[in-house]
Amino acid sequence: MTQHNKTLGEFIINKQSEFKYSSGELSRLINSIRLAGKIVNHEVNKAGLVDILGTAGAENIQGEDQQKLDVYANEVFINTLVNREIVCGIASEEEDDFISIKGGNSKNDNKYVVLMDPLDGSSNIDVNVSVGTIFSIYRRVTPSGTPVTLEDFLQPGNQQVAAGYIVYGTSTMIVYSTGHGVNGFTLNPAIGTYYLSHPNMKFPEKGNIYSVNEGNYIHFPKGVKKYIKYCQEEKDNRPYTSRYIGSLVSDFHRNMIKGGIYIYPSTSKNPNGKLRLLYECNPMAFLAERAGGKASDGFTRILDIKPTELHQRVPFFCGNTEMVEKAEKFMNKTYKKE
Ligand code: AHG
Ligand code: MN
Ligand code: MN
Repeated sequence: MTQHNKTLGEFIINKQSEFKYSSGELSRLINSIRLAGKIVNHEVNKAGLVDILGTAGAENIQGEDQQKLDVYANEVFINTLVNREIVCGIASEEEDDFISIKGGNSKNDNKYVVLMDPLDGSSNIDVNVSVGTIFSIYRRVTPSGTPVTLEDFLQPGNQQVAAGYIVYGTSTMIVYSTGHGVNGFTLNPAIGTYYLSHPNMKFPEKGNIYSVNEGNYIHFPKGVKKYIKYCQEEKDNRPYTSRYIGSLVSDFHRNMIKGGIYIYPSTSKNPNGKLRLLYECNPMAFLAERAGGKASDGFTRILDIKPTELHQRVPFFCGNTEMVEKAEKFMNKTYKKE
């Protein structure tokens, strides 16, 4: 990577001037996320060296063990955003309730709320496999200057202003969209600068990867079982390749670059699947659509679902448009929605 490549900082400044009436608030917000991402990256990279592995002893609201790095990443992102007084509210997968932020002595008249999964794929930390951070940004709907309410967070994904993720992988990348293209930046750890390495990311027209935890096959709906069999059939360009990391961020990232579908369906045990609509599915669906892909719950566009609770879960089918549509066909054939 050469020095003259555009840096994320330069990219944000250039973009800022494209938004005629923008106050620079969104740019500053993305900047804060970029900074927090670097701090978490540093800690993730040390994970094998220091005594930071293992569970922190607490369970999150969804009854899952929290890994220490989940707690750490949660704190870094919250503190960075709070200290910079850059948002009026935050909701996190690791927090029971949303956080309302009042600025110092002054009234907080920031317009944006951030929703995030501070550390995605946390079960992979102990085994040196890629993890990530997912974020989603909305304009508040309640009047500015007043404390945020639940209403500000329960907006459908189609209202997102920006969304993105950081993948702490073989290299660390931030991939985000403010609504137009999806752009990816790779961190040069030697100098702590992200460079534009993946401009205007798009799913390839055809995909041949399917990503699903097949261990749960027996509990899957008929449509998903049939779709998996279809992926494995010897016909046309099939069988497809199966790839499942167990970190949504990494599975999505690979599928967007190589072409594929990610599925976390409902199961007989978890009728709403596992992934969270607000922290995981909406931001990924926003990126997928901006990159020419598609995201649905098997029947309905993810971005059109009106959330009813912060930690809501939803079945998730996301990736190449053609592949998602095929999976939806199998779902529709085998199951009629009431
Ligand atoms: P998190 O670490 O934030 O709880 O998310 C884990 C999610 C997602 O990243 C991953 O694709 C999925 O859970 C894996 O679930 P299974 O282990 O059930 O396949
Ligand atoms: Mn997650
Ligand atoms: Mn998480």
